[in-house]
Amino acid sequence: MNIGPDTTPGNAPSSGGAARPADETQELFRRLRWEHLREAGLPEAAPPVCPILKLLKGQKALVTGASSGIGRGIAIALAHAGADVAINYASSSTDADAAAEEARRCGSAALVHKADITSEAQVESMFATVIERLGTIDILVNNAGIQDDAPFESMTLDQWNRVLAVNLTGQFLCAREAVREFRRRGIRPGISCAAGKIIFISSVHDLIPWAGHVNYAASKGGLAMLMRSLAQEVAPHRIRANSISPGALRTGINTDAWSTPEAYRELMRLIPCRRIGEPDDIGRATVWLASDDSDYVHGTTLYVDGGMTLYPGFASGG
Ligand code: BGC
Repeated sequence: MNIGPDTTPGNAPSSGGAARPADETQELFRRLRWEHLREAGLPEAAPPVCPILKLLKGQKALVTGASSGIGRGIAIALAHAGADVAINYASSSTDADAAAEEARRCGSAALVHKADITSEAQVESMFATVIERLGTIDILVNNAGIQDDAPFESMTLDQWNRVLAVNLTGQFLCAREAVREFRRRGIRPGISCAAGKIIFISSVHDLIPWAGHVNYAASKGGLAMLMRSLAQEVAPHRIRANSISPGALRTGINTDAWSTPEAYRELMRLIPCRRIGEPDDIGRATVWLASDDSDYVHGTTLYVDGGMTLYPGFASGG
């Protein structure tokens, strides 16, 4: 399979930030995002369009769960920043291939790899394959995660186990393989001053309790201590570990929360910045956290949430 940059005419690397779909749905959503602000006399809350700097040239990244949603946004942003990317996916090869195509249009090499991150054997084999094909891995973005919600009393053990398996155990298995590769290889002078970077994609629900989602919130709370304990352990080896905790992002995991005017208005009550996040918002933060610009940032959680963790209810109460 071709993993080189796409040089097809018309598919030249974009000079802007991560690409945005410009279709009709996007236009409808833009109006929905704008209307409630206009009514309230507030300025439009539009996402950034400035170009992503080439901070990751020569680096190799693996992003789990990257065929859609936040993971896809991250993979594309890393490609814009000059990294070659491996796109892990669990089910849809069509979506993964499309994400890889888009990464190639940024001028990067991209490959796709199907693996269930809850399987130790599949994770080991994914790392072996990606390292063989890209040469090494400098950046792991531990993104894959699921939700399977239920009221506490009716939550099944299977729902509990599945969410913990993907969101926590899967991130452990991938981080362990990454650390093994970073320790084996050491620092690559001229590429990065760190031997490797691991970025855990968590959630505001590693902090905000979430009724009806105890399996999800518990997995993200666990992730916070997985990341911090790992960061403490691997720091002397020049391996950096940090988390990004997204708030409400416009992806398929939470369509119900943003896809109608009523739901969107209700959601905005929880977001002081008054706009839903885009996968590109997380992509941009990931680029910075993976780059040497943040070399002294270690063991922290960066909340990329439009202020969701600021207890917005207290803006007019308390
Ligand atoms: C969840 C979304 C939710 C958001 C804010 C995320 O971690 O996956 O479903 O909208 O947190 O509550």
